[in-house]
Amino acid sequence: MSSQPAPQPQPIDKSAPAKLQRGPTKTRTEPQAKREGPTLDQVREHPRVKAFIRAANEQLGVVGYTEHGERHARTTADSARFILKSLGHDARRCELGAIAAYLHDIGNVITRDRHAQTGAIIAAEILRELRYTEDEVAGIMGAVGNHEGEEGGQPVSAVSAAVILADKSDVHRSRVRNPRTTSFDIHDRVNYAATAVNIRVDRREKLITLELTIDTAVSPLMEYFEIFLSRMVLCRRSAEYLHCSFALVINNTRLL
Ligand SMILES: [Fe+2]
Ligand SMILES: [Fe+2]
Repeated sequence: MSSQPAPQPQPIDKSAPAKLQRGPTKTRTEPQAKREGPTLDQVREHPRVKAFIRAANEQLGVVGYTEHGERHARTTADSARFILKSLGHDARRCELGAIAAYLHDIGNVITRDRHAQTGAIIAAEILRELRYTEDEVAGIMGAVGNHEGEEGGQPVSAVSAAVILADKSDVHRSRVRNPRTTSFDIHDRVNYAATAVNIRVDRREKLITLELTIDTAVSPLMEYFEIFLSRMVLCRRSAEYLHCSFALVINNTRLL
């Protein structure tokens, strides 16, 4: 199965000094994106978005999942916008990446199973109310619906690839909700072991790097790969869709 190549961003200015960008970072809506349509702010303030993300997070907590609330939505939105912006995509596409990323897990309000697909339908209804164009709604549905590899998701657009990379790189101890370290499962352990995470995008080198600091006293590296190898494969595919290579660096050692 071959996927369409991502639309090319603006050509790179070779005369400008090389800039290695780091993330996740606080990204902002560009004025140009605001002129071209509704923005992430309206989505975030929508009462249904607030209620559904809150309920989804609570429900996932009941069945033992890590944090999937507003913090995860905001972090993923920031990272997706950062990735697209760093690669030179236009302001509107960066904004759509942030919106798709903010909404990507909203389907968990129904059930974890197939939450990507249900999330795409829920997102579409909200976005139409906010008067997004049908083309934009379609792009966001594809990105939300394809964010989980376990549910058959694949990068299907630049926005979708950025959402996958942003989502899969949100690994951090702050996401663990289980207060008893003695009863951690492998997901709790791996997340708890991650004390720092960073995405680097080097547009010149066409390289997207996920840098992690893992406390191996909490979780051996093997456990990271045990649960995250398939996610890393999806990240590599997503980086390739964006015309980049993907690197994984853990504790200053490049592993992929
Ligand atoms: Fe998800
Ligand atoms: Fe997620």
